[in-house]
Amino acid sequence: MKHSADRSSCLKKAPSLRVGVIGATGMVGQELVRLLERRGSFPVGELVPFSSGSQRRTVSFRGRRLAAGPVDQAALASCSLVFFVSSDEVSRRLAPGLAGRGIWTIDDSSAFRLDPGVPLVIPEVNAHVLKRSSRLIAGPNCTMTPLAVAAVALHRGAGIKEVRLATYQSVSGAGRSALEEFFLQVHEKGRLRVEGRAPVLGGSAHSALPGPIAYNVIPQVGGFDAEGRSVEENKVAGELRKVWEAPSLKVSVTAVRVPVVRGHAMAAWLTLGRPLSPAAARAAISRTPGLKLFPDGDYPTPLAVADTEPVCVGRIRKGATSRELCLWLAYDNLLKGAALNSVQIAEELLRRGWLA
Ligand SMILES: NC(=O)c1ccc[n+]([C@@H]2O[C@H](COP(=O)([O-])OP(=O)(O)OC[C@H]3O[C@@H](n4cnc5c(N)ncnc54)[C@H](OP(=O)(O)O)[C@@H]3O)[C@@H](O)[C@H]2O)c1
Repeated sequence: MKHSADRSSCLKKAPSLRVGVIGATGMVGQELVRLLERRGSFPVGELVPFSSGSQRRTVSFRGRRLAAGPVDQAALASCSLVFFVSSDEVSRRLAPGLAGRGIWTIDDSSAFRLDPGVPLVIPEVNAHVLKRSSRLIAGPNCTMTPLAVAAVALHRGAGIKEVRLATYQSVSGAGRSALEEFFLQVHEKGRLRVEGRAPVLGGSAHSALPGPIAYNVIPQVGGFDAEGRSVEENKVAGELRKVWEAPSLKVSVTAVRVPVVRGHAMAAWLTLGRPLSPAAARAAISRTPGLKLFPDGDYPTPLAVADTEPVCVGRIRKGATSRELCLWLAYDNLLKGAALNSVQIAEELLRRGWLA
């Protein structure tokens, strides 16, 4: 109770802020703008949205349409806080300079996540790593964040030694161009199916993903390294070790793209340092903020949890031994997997009185 009282008094005293969003017209950026408006917890005085500038684009904020043009350094320099939701390249080019000038910079790309000098933050898990002097803050990968939240209580209580995951990642996780291709493929394949022909697509119809995703499943998210691991699989492992401060944690992942519009899911197998019953695991998990626990026999699906904020957990059960647990997670990749986590980081800065 004390925590929420402190929080609201801080929010009341907070000044109106000029907030930049680089990538405001993308999948994550649009959600971020919507959250800044919807949560009402953040005193945005002026929103300054940016896009690539390749087309005339606008974003809607508090009933007004705001032009989202290309990045303008002068406009950025007068912001107190800038969210980066565009690309690794844009973040690398612009974020360190802004942070160096004292502007709070929250980056959703993977450019700085494993940089030892940049805090990688999930507020429910490791807000303690935020420092007033570290103005550049990274938000983790959309696959890692929900797992780190869902299993942190088990990790603290029973010392997780090994995590094995199979992910089921929606197409919106690969950005707007992948989603546009997916809709085109569904349309084209649907027509082919009706005509009774084999649903084969031309090669030009899938440039955003490694293959056609409509009516398909692709066990590749990003390029492969020399050992055959994908970029996404390596991101999950490295980032989870950093956020949990567990350098020796063993992590094996198979990351899979599935033909779902929005909402990721994953099956997780956890090996604990000591035996823990599913009932005890449920009790521990239920105390973590930001989670919704489903009762036995019920489970979340991406379709059911799309556009909702909590990480949803179900099917908690014993694995092959008393030290192994299996879980099922589903969550909105654009919200807790990206935009919501970034906004929560900003809210934490505000609560501490660091944003001016
Ligand atoms: N999608 C997810 O589930 C997810 C989850 C976690 C993290 N992320 C990260 O979040 C970021 C955005 O992902 P997304 O899925 O939202 O991508 P997206 O849908 O492709 O959107 C990209 C955004 O960046 C803008 N942009 C592109 N080049 C730019 C430039 N040179 N200068 C300024 N803006 C530029 C685009 O503007 P236009 O509208 O003009 O093209 C668009 O607003 C990426 O770093 C991604 O890794 C995504």
